[in-house]
Formats: sequence, structure tokens, C-alpha cells
Amino acid sequence: MKDIRVLVVDDEPNMRRVLEIMLARRGYKTISAADGREAFSLLQSAPVDLVISDLRMPGMNGIELLRKLRESGSDVPLIMITAHGSIESAVEAMRLGACDYLLRPFDTETLDLSISRVFSVRDVIQQKDYLREQIEHAWEGLIGTSAAMQAVRTQIERVAPTRAAVLLTGETGTGKEVVARAIHRASDRRERLFVPVNCAAIPADMLESELFGFEKGAFTGAVRRHIGKFELADGGTLFLDEITEMPVALQAKLLRVLQDGVIERLGGDRALSLDVRIIAASNRSPVQAIREGHLREDVYYRLNVFTIELPPLRARREDIPALVRHFIALHAGARPTRAVPTITPQALDLLQRYDWPGNVRELGNMIERALILSGGRTLEASHFPLDVPPRAPPAASAHAPVQDLRLEPAVEALEKQLLTQALRESGGNKARAAQLLQISERSVWYKLKKYGIGDA
Ligand SMILES: Nc1ncnc2c1ncn2[C@@H]1O[C@H](COP(=O)(O)OP(=O)(O)OP(=O)(O)O)[C@@H](O)[C@H]1O
Ligand SMILES: [Mg+2]
Repeated sequence: MKDIRVLVVDDEPNMRRVLEIMLARRGYKTISAADGREAFSLLQSAPVDLVISDLRMPGMNGIELLRKLRESGSDVPLIMITAHGSIESAVEAMRLGACDYLLRPFDTETLDLSISRVFSVRDVIQQKDYLREQIEHAWEGLIGTSAAMQAVRTQIERVAPTRAAVLLTGETGTGKEVVARAIHRASDRRERLFVPVNCAAIPADMLESELFGFEKGAFTGAVRRHIGKFELADGGTLFLDEITEMPVALQAKLLRVLQDGVIERLGGDRALSLDVRIIAASNRSPVQAIREGHLREDVYYRLNVFTIELPPLRARREDIPALVRHFIALHAGARPTRAVPTITPQALDLLQRYDWPGNVRELGNMIERALILSGGRTLEASHFPLDVPPRAPPAASAHAPVQDLRLEPAVEALEKQLLTQALRESGGNKARAAQLLQISERSVWYKLKKYGIGDA
């Protein structure tokens, strides 16, 4: 990785330290300052590619630092760190030209996303190829060879070359963003930008100007023209994450873009026609969101041209070993001098039996944590504090003589057990349960009814 220098500004020494470690582990060079004034004077002498600053600091705070930097003509990207109570200041910071803000506490993934977003925006402005390369490599690979993941891959390959809008559904942490990026990379838009927008993370009243941009003077505080995400993604892909969190009124404007491919900046007087591929994601059921009034039906039909449903991790446990190896290499990779740690079969067995409500993200976090606990050595079961049900007693063994020889009840009991298990592994999805059982979906419905299982 080329040298990227990040300036960390925070008055709390511990906070500074944590951020520095997180950044260093990702290969960034860091310097730090305890308040805005120190940061400002450091920036006069040291070239820096990114500033990550706390908002509230004695002396010169983050907003003042940002204002002073912009006044002095510096356009160094700045990410503001704020606490929950100060969201208005975060909005203010964005208006002043901060690239992004992070709500404390944030996890490493949020930080990664925010940084890659900063550099993908800067990339347009500066055309620095190495940054683009780095961003792309950060997301390389969709791990997993289970039938379910193979099906996902086939769908990606099929839809990527088209211009069709894509809707990605699936529980949290199942890889929707990974798939969105994979579609972008596999399309002929790969040379242009992939622009992610998390509709849940941007305050509702800012989302419109973030997406559509605004002209100077469009509203108080619009001191200069701002290019929206739609324009940024022209020729590329716009990823609308958590689409059901977008205010319904704004969804009406989105519909116009989806239909006609034109946008208007806020306060602007002409329509711009754009070539943007839209990928949307939701971890809620879109149909239910429509029922609850969170998603416009017409928007859904526009997006639903092509839907990819990401299976939960517990429905493809055979992918766990490969994912574990991937995450070990990823998190241990920051220290190239040491050998890559291994994992004991017992620990792996434990991981394969856990239900992973947070899916692949939870697995990744668990591995990162275990590597810290093990001091970078072999991962053992004790490094994973997981709540795993004890192994089910072996089913009536073929070798032990059975007392009751009646065939029917035994077959029914086995059928019931397999059905329940298939449903559990498919997260209640009957079509997928049918695939696992290799029977028709109709038979699944019939048997569920017969045995009075589930809601059928
Ligand atoms: N198949 C996969 N191979 C490798 N890494 C994966 C895979 N799926 C997910 N991940 C990793 O798991 C984490 C979560 O993935 P991602 O952000 O795409 O989930 P998501 O479905 O968008 O979740 P949410 O609904 O919470 O936003 C990321 O760190 C991602 O790199
Ligand atoms: Mg996501």
C-alpha cells in the first residue's frame, strides 16, 4: 500500500491511541494532535491525506478547525467524530465540507467504510489510480462455495453486464454490500465510481441534498455548489443501502430518477441527465416494508427488476471454514512478519454449530477478537465465547436394535426432525428448505401442515 498519512485529532489520549492503532493496523501512517490549534499548525508543515477529528475539544474544536482549514484554502478531507447528542453539529460539519462523520462508538468496519468513501470521492477529483486500486482490493472476493453462494455468484454474473436495477435482500451481515461491489466490479462500469449511500445513517433532512446536490445559495449555509451522490455516480453505480429508511417523500423523487434518469440539484433550474446504475439493499422484508408504509410500492417494482436474496450464514455452514481462513488472513495480515495463525478442529466445530445472528460480519468480528485474545497464536475454542447448544444426541443408530419396529411412526419422526432442521437452516424460508430437502415446495407446505409445524 502506498503511504497514506492520516492526522488524528482528539483531546482524549486514549481515544487518540485507539484510533491510531486501528489505522496503523490498516497500513496508514498516522500523526496526532490534541486539539484544533495544534492540528492546524501541524497541517501547515506536514502534508496529510486525511484528517479524522473529534468534534468537541477544548481550545479549538472540530468545527472551528474545519472552518479555519477551508478559509485557508485547504481542501484536505476531514471526517468528524461526534457523540450522539451532537447530531446538529455533525450536520453543520457536513455543510462546512466535512466528508463524513462517525457517531461514537463506532466499529472498525464503519471506519473502513468511511475512509474508503472519502478516498473514492477524492479519486474523482484527483484521479489517483493507486487509491482506486486499494479500495477495490479491500473488497475483493466473495468467499463461499456452498450451493447457495454459487447461486448468488451466477446471479451476479448474469445481472452485472446489464443496466437493470438490482435489489439485494438478506439479514444483517450477510454480504449485501460485498455483492453490490462485486456487481459493480463485474460490470463495464468498473472504471467509474461505486458510490455507497446508507439511507439509515444520514439524517433524513440531509439525505436529499446528499443525493441530489445543491446550488450555491439553495438554502442558508449552502455556501458553495455541492455535487450530489447521483452525479458522483454518473457512469458508475449508486448503492442505496437500507432503502426502506429513505423518507417516503424522497422515494417519490427517486422514482423519477429511476424512470427518466434525470435529476435536479436543489435550487437548480435545469435537469441533468445521468447514466447511473442503481443497486438497493434492505435487511427488512421489502413486502412487509410496503405494508408498513416504509417503502413505496412503485419504487419497489422499479427496483425489483432483479432481486438477489443473500442466505443467512447458518443456512450455509459449509462456508464457515473458508470464511474463517479468510478472516484470519485478513486480520493477521497487518503483521507480515509472523506466521498466519491456525485454528483447532474443536474451535472450528464450535463456529460451525453456532447460529450467527449477525452472520458473516459477526464471524469476522469474532475472529478479530479471538486473534487478540490468543495473542496471534493458534485459535482455540476458549477464545470464542459462543452460546452453542450441546450437540444433539445421535439419531437412532442403525446398529442398535430398535424395540418398536413399526415403520410409519419412525419415518414420520425422522421426517419431522429433518423438516424442522431444514427450516431452521433456511431461516424459515420454505423454498430454500425445499431445496435442502430436495423435495418440492408444495410437499414442504403439505408436510408442515400434516405435522402442524410452523405457521403453515
Ligand atoms: N461472502 C463473503 N465473503 C467475504 N466476506 C464477506 C462475505 N459476506 C460478508 N462478508 C464480510 O462481512 C461483513 C459484512 O458484510 P456486508 O457489509 O456486505 O453485510 P450487509 O449484508 O450489507 O449487512 P447490513 O444489512 O448490516 O448492512 C463485511 O466485513 C464483509 O466484508
Ligand atoms: Mg450493508
